Amino acid sequence: MAELPLVLLHAFPVDSRMWNGVRATLAARTRLITPDQRGLGRSPMPETDREPSLDDAAADVVALLDKLELEQVVLGGCSMGGYLTMAVLRRAPERIGGLVFIDTKATADAPAAAANRHNVAERAERTGSVAWLAPSMVSKLVSKGTLYRRQDVVDDLRGWISAQPPAGVAWAQRAMAARPDSTDLLREADVPALVLVGAEDGITPPAEARAMADALPKARLVELPRAGHLSPLDDPAGVADAIVRWYDSW
Ligand code: MLT
Repeated sequence: MAELPLVLLHAFPVDSRMWNGVRATLAARTRLITPDQRGLGRSPMPETDREPSLDDAAADVVALLDKLELEQVVLGGCSMGGYLTMAVLRRAPERIGGLVFIDTKATADAPAAAANRHNVAERAERTGSVAWLAPSMVSKLVSKGTLYRRQDVVDDLRGWISAQPPAGVAWAQRAMAARPDSTDLLREADVPALVLVGAEDGITPPAEARAMADALPKARLVELPRAGHLSPLDDPAGVADAIVRWYDSW
């Protein structure tokens, strides 16, 4: 039975409130830590002239583990949080005793996707606002069932997106655009891993999750039938139960 604390890293363009629905179940099983990435949620954007890179966000995560005196944790994340998990794995594999990947992928951006991220970053900076982001993104982030029948979840998601600081949104987009392919990195990750994906995830579809599970030496793959890209919002009980069952299995 795994006893390591669990650190979960959030998706873009939201913050750690996306874990609200899974928090109680997971915190009853293990110590749960859900930081905000630099520039998003309640984490400040450090003054820096360095090119945006998830490596620097990974250094933030390692610094948090140092501060909390946690030698090793189970590290996981949803979508961008998964990309960041891979950046931490690259930087400090010895701090990771298990991995949880939710609605994410190991592949890098195609050139068109990276160019689109730079456009979003420039628009956020130019307008000094992200009010335009939620209307263009929400329908891609949640399942059809959530979109049409769970107005409270949709309202929360819109609110979280609209609350993100434009500078943090711009930094995250540029950092994600620069991330490398991590498939080979996963092949070397000889720790228990859980790969979760919503069957309706159109941003990081189930084929990407299967490729991650195939690359990871010790992976369990779980597909959640009624979930989209942010499965912790679409099916919080399914996500939390899958993590707890996996924790209990090793
Ligand atoms: C996310 O949910 O974190 C983003 O959709 C990931 C991405 O833009 O690749």
